[in-house]
Amino acid sequence: MKNEIINEADLFSKDQPALHNTSGYEDLKAKVENVDCRIGMKHLNENAVSLVLTDPPYFIDGMDAGWDTKKLTARVKDGVVGSLPAGMKFSVDQGRELQRFLTPIAEEWMRVIRPGGFCLVFSQNRLVHRTAIALEDAGFEIRDVLLWRYEGQAKAFTQDHFVRKRKLTAEGKERLIQKLGGRKTPQLKPQGEMIILGQAPREGTFVDNWDKWETGLIDVKDPLIGATQFPGTVIPAKKPRKRYGHMTAKPVNLLQHLIRIFSAPGALVLDSFAGSGSTGVAAKIEGRSFIGYEIETEMAICAQERIEGILL
Ligand SMILES: C[S@@+](CC[C@H](N)C(=O)[O-])C[C@H]1O[C@@H](n2cnc3c(N)ncnc32)[C@H](O)[C@@H]1O
Repeated sequence: MKNEIINEADLFSKDQPALHNTSGYEDLKAKVENVDCRIGMKHLNENAVSLVLTDPPYFIDGMDAGWDTKKLTARVKDGVVGSLPAGMKFSVDQGRELQRFLTPIAEEWMRVIRPGGFCLVFSQNRLVHRTAIALEDAGFEIRDVLLWRYEGQAKAFTQDHFVRKRKLTAEGKERLIQKLGGRKTPQLKPQGEMIILGQAPREGTFVDNWDKWETGLIDVKDPLIGATQFPGTVIPAKKPRKRYGHMTAKPVNLLQHLIRIFSAPGALVLDSFAGSGSTGVAAKIEGRSFIGYEIETEMAICAQERIEGILL
C-alpha cells in the first residue's frame, strides 16, 4: 500500500462550490492517504483547502525526512535516545535541512489554499525560524507565532559523569566537579511548542475575501480552550495520554480549538503529516472535511481508523 496513490478524482475537486456547505454535515469527507505528501498534494486542486493545520517532522534526532516510527520508538527509552536525552543532538544542518524540506511543501500549500486561508504549522522551538522562512518564501504572510503550553520534562544534565570518565587523578576529578558546581547543559524545562501562523494573501478586503472564500477572518465567539476569554496566543493543553503508537501525537482539543477559530464550518482542513490522525479526528468533531497524508502505512491505517471511530 505504501506510496500508492488512492486518488478519488472528484474528491475535494475544483467544482465544489466556493461557499462551504453549512447545512448539516452529510457531505463531509475525511480521508488519510498513505503516500508522501509531496506526491499526494499534487492531486489537490487550487483553492481546494481552507486551512492547513499540520505537524511536520521536527528534524531532530531522526525525526527528519526519513522518519521511522518503529526505529524511533526502539531508540527512545524514558525520553532518552542512546545516551542523550531526546532532542539533544544538535547540528546547524538540522535547521537548513528542515527549511529545504519544507519550502517546496509550503509552495504546494500556497497553491492549494484559498486566498486568505490560514496555515498553522507546529515547529520544534529551536528550528521555528526555518519553518517561518519556508512559509514566507512560499508567499504566506507570517501573522503570529502561537504557543501550545504544556508541562514538559527537564532534559538538561550535569557533566559530572564525563569528568569521572576522564584520565585524571581522583583529586583532579574532584577539583573539576567542584568547579563545574553542578551546572547543566543548556536546556531549560520545555513548557511549550510553537505554531507558526501564516496567511495566504487575501483577495481584496477582509470583507470581500470572506464573502468569496469564507477564509481570512477568525471566529472568536466560541473558543474551546479558555472559553470565557478572547483567544490568545498562548494555548494551554495537556499532552495526550493516548498516543496511538505515535511519539509526537498532538492533543485533539488543541487542534479543535484552532480549527474552530481559523476555519468555517464545512471547510476542508489539510494535514500533510497526519501521523496518528489527531487533526482528522478534531476536524470531524468540528464538522469540517479533512484530507491527510501519512507516509508510514501502519500510521496511515491507524489514522484512518481513528478518524472513522472519532477516537480521542
Ligand atoms: C510530527 S509527526 C505528526 C504527528 C501527528 N500530529 C499526530 O498527532 O499524531 C510527523 C508525521 O509525518 C510523517 N511524514 C514524514 N514525512 C512525510 C511525508 N513526506 N509525507 C507524509 N507524511 C510524512 C511521519 O511518518 C510522522 O508520522
